[in-house]
Amino acid sequence: MKVLNIGSMNLDYVYHVDHIVQPGETEAADSLNVFLGGKGMNQSVALAKAGADVFHAGLIGEDGRIFPETCREYGVDASFIREVDIKTGHAIIQIDRGAQNCILLYGGANQALTESYVDEVLSAFESGDMLLLQNEVNLLPYIVDRAWEKGMQIALNPSPFNDKLREVDLSRVSVFLLNEVEGNQVTGFTDPEEILKEMLQMFPKAKIVLTLGKDGAVYAEGEVRCFQPIFPVQAVDTTAAGDTFTGYFLAGITEGMPVAEALRMSAKASSIAVSRAGAVPSIPWREEVMAALAEN
Ligand code: RIB
Repeated sequence: MKVLNIGSMNLDYVYHVDHIVQPGETEAADSLNVFLGGKGMNQSVALAKAGADVFHAGLIGEDGRIFPETCREYGVDASFIREVDIKTGHAIIQIDRGAQNCILLYGGANQALTESYVDEVLSAFESGDMLLLQNEVNLLPYIVDRAWEKGMQIALNPSPFNDKLREVDLSRVSVFLLNEVEGNQVTGFTDPEEILKEMLQMFPKAKIVLTLGKDGAVYAEGEVRCFQPIFPVQAVDTTAAGDTFTGYFLAGITEGMPVAEALRMSAKASSIAVSRAGAVPSIPWREEVMAALAEN
């Protein structure tokens, strides 16, 4: 099965700070690093490093040529990435001494997708292929409708959640991968089991993966539940931990791995990502993940 990810590519400006800056406050950063990121890019790299056949589509400006180069380096097909006359998306990320982060996004080229571009990309995929989406590009309602008409399976990471997602026909999504905050935004509930129950009420045919931070992750499908605790590590930078989990989980299930095994592999991959700086550079290769799992 081919996986198409129509997703964001961001230059991540990562500032280490004592504490996340407060309204009205000015604070000097301890350091600045620039990493490749964007939820779309991170998830494509995680899929490829986990062994999936992944195609990344999306837009960059001329300042983003490193994205297709890096995709190719990691085995992500970059032939659908196009350059436009708009700045590449970027993110300003503050990381405090406890490794907590906050992210300010500038969409840039990520928000310039056109219907004709989407049609061109989708024409290379067919029924049974998987489409992966996050909420950092425009035209999600259009993309979901066209992909669904083609019979593609749609996986959605509704992150960052905002009102634009309410325009998407979410009943067309077959796999949701989301965290507790997004689960609350979709359902109105805060308790994980209530979030899952409500999501399955709203989308009875969907598979749901709800990540719970330090409390692990739960998979739900009908009456089935599968829980995976985290592998505790000293956190350095939690950016892209969720993206690593998403990419690894989808890679696992698209190759037919049992859900419990896919969750375990994803949790381990995510724990390794958390122990390293940056988004894309923190995502481990599958060999490393499997070797680490073998030690547990
Ligand atoms: O999920 C992490 C990502 O969110 C970062 O890489 C940043 O670019 C934002 O999109």
